[in-house]
Amino acid sequence: MNGSTWKLFDRLSADYDEVVPFFASFGAAIMATIDPPPGTRLLDLGAGRGALTAPALARGCHVTAIDAAPGMVRRLAATYPDAEVHTMDAQALTLADNSFDVVASAFVIHLLDDPAAGVAEAYRVLKPGGRFAFTGASERSKGGPTVSAPDELGVRLNELFAEFTAYLPPNGSIGTWNDAADMLEDAGFVDLREDFAEVAIPFDDAEALWRWSLTHGYRAFIDDLPDARRAEFHDRMLALQAKDFVLRRVNPVWSGRKPPPRKTV
Ligand SMILES: C[S@@+](CC[C@H](N)C(=O)[O-])C[C@H]1O[C@@H](n2cnc3c(N)ncnc32)[C@H](O)[C@@H]1O
Repeated sequence: MNGSTWKLFDRLSADYDEVVPFFASFGAAIMATIDPPPGTRLLDLGAGRGALTAPALARGCHVTAIDAAPGMVRRLAATYPDAEVHTMDAQALTLADNSFDVVASAFVIHLLDDPAAGVAEAYRVLKPGGRFAFTGASERSKGGPTVSAPDELGVRLNELFAEFTAYLPPNGSIGTWNDAADMLEDAGFVDLREDFAEVAIPFDDAEALWRWSLTHGYRAFIDDLPDARRAEFHDRMLALQAKDFVLRRVNPVWSGRKPPPRKTV
């Protein structure tokens, strides 16, 4: 599957983050790394059901939340009347230059057709001195906490996805790898930082893990498998063995600051 991934999330908007609060938990952990003070003007870029919007409002930020999926935006507006909510493309924001203290984006930039355009738009709408923070990895990572024991649920799940990647069509599934630190510097950001957000999400059983997998980006991978392989993938997920049914994940949060304009003499 390629292009305009918001259409998938629009279809999933009623069920997204309903099986377990995976993204809401990650959003809270990501917002803790950004740590904006009350009164911060914050843009949640690709807000989904409000995983970042909720903790930002709770901290007293003035939140604008945008998403390209109308279904997500309807639910956002109903759940968070204190936020300013818009249906909008993260790659072509109809928002003024220099208007936010913080732009934050969780699990979105790698899904855009043109990730660099999303980063450039974050730069444009930030005030000089403002910070853009988003989930993404970089070759320049100094390393952080990891979840690597072979009997961890997350490790077993990754192994299963890696094995079935071979059966995807040639273009693969959604998401593209882009180096987070390179993208920030290419857009003009300075003072780069890498922080880490982690979650531990308990599942009742493998059936709940399967239902959860159908409600977010994993869904594209599952839909893109040939029918027979999809049935096999389902059976293999239901048979997963792990030390417990807690999904432990750690994600890098890269951020950079928009510098003040250079003085011309
Ligand atoms: C994995 S979800 C993340 C949502 C939310 N940030 C969270 O952490 O739960 C990706 C979101 O990006 C949105 N999205 C995809 N392409 C977009 C685009 N071009 N502009 C704005 N939002 C987009 C989707 O509609 C979806 O809500």
